[in-house]
Amino acid sequence: MKFARITGTGSYLPEKILSNHDLETLLDTTDQWIYSRSGIRERHIAADSEFTCDLAEHAARRAIESAGRKPVDIDLIVVATTTPDQVFPSTACLLQNRLGIHDCPAFDVQAVCAGFIYALDVVYRQIQTSGSKCALVVGAETFSRILNWKDRSTCVLFGDGAGAMIVEESDRPGIMSSHLHADGAFKDLLCVPVGVSTAYQEILAGRAYTEMQGKEVFKWAVTALGDAVLEALEANDCDQSEIDWLVPHQANIRIIRAIARRLDLSMDNVIVTIDRHGNTSAASIPLAFDEAVRDNRIKPGQKIIFEAFGGGFTWGSMLLEY
Ligand code: UT7
Repeated sequence: MKFARITGTGSYLPEKILSNHDLETLLDTTDQWIYSRSGIRERHIAADSEFTCDLAEHAARRAIESAGRKPVDIDLIVVATTTPDQVFPSTACLLQNRLGIHDCPAFDVQAVCAGFIYALDVVYRQIQTSGSKCALVVGAETFSRILNWKDRSTCVLFGDGAGAMIVEESDRPGIMSSHLHADGAFKDLLCVPVGVSTAYQEILAGRAYTEMQGKEVFKWAVTALGDAVLEALEANDCDQSEIDWLVPHQANIRIIRAIARRLDLSMDNVIVTIDRHGNTSAASIPLAFDEAVRDNRIKPGQKIIFEAFGGGFTWGSMLLEY
């Protein structure tokens, strides 16, 4: 049986840091409100001249290097993003060109904050069934570009960044299971309500903003993610006690704590970056994973759960052995 294993990781955060105290000078908000409701202290914001593909390229090059690979080894590129540089070509094709790679499949996946899990699922199945041997999967966002900086209920929550992984065919276990879900009935609770087809003028005018009914989203996220992590355990006949790390999507520390409780896992076994990154949407899991691999918390052979929830709604979980 063919397995798909993560063999390299990389990430990138834009230089500019925007703290809650900075936001206090721009909006009717406080560090105390933001931190107590979300767990966020600061987030990174891309420079005006910096785009999603720039962030993705930095993260991808670091992942390729950490896997001991060269761009020429990559035979599949999947980028999860909600904030692509262009309508088309896909950010994956732009990234492919930057890396000097030719003639491998390259495409974007759009599942907002659950995008990285969706993209990794595609890569996992391509390796198992379609002969891909060395895939690059990236989550990259310049979410700051789709925020209304006058809406304190949303703009304080998000940040920019990118994370990447190299996933290779292997004869020893890596990704053990993947469960994806979506329900478009909840399309209005978390959305940018305009797009290229419906309101191109709004996009040109820079008025394509994220809207969220936070309380409703929060309730759904806790329930759906709790069920998704238990689904991952059950599918692998795995006991909670066997899990070494939870690497969750970083939307709210209170959601993360609730899921850790569902897994009966101490917060010492949860990778948390939300305090420094905010919610980086599709980039949050690979950013958190890379940080914990590089500081040696996550070690080879350990069992890890990923989970994410986002607009759509979309959500899912993965269980893997690193
Ligand atoms: O990644 C995708 C998935 N996203 C999520 O899962 C996010 C889910 N939702 C959340 O994380 C939380 O619901 C929030 C952090 C967005 C909000 O926390 P909350 O405890 O649900 O607060 P709330 O929405 O009930 O807001 C309470 C109050 C309101 O004032 P009133 O009406 O009670 O007087 C808001 O106007 O807080 C006010 N408020 C703020 N005050 C200061 C909203 N935003 C701010 C702010 N600063 N930035």
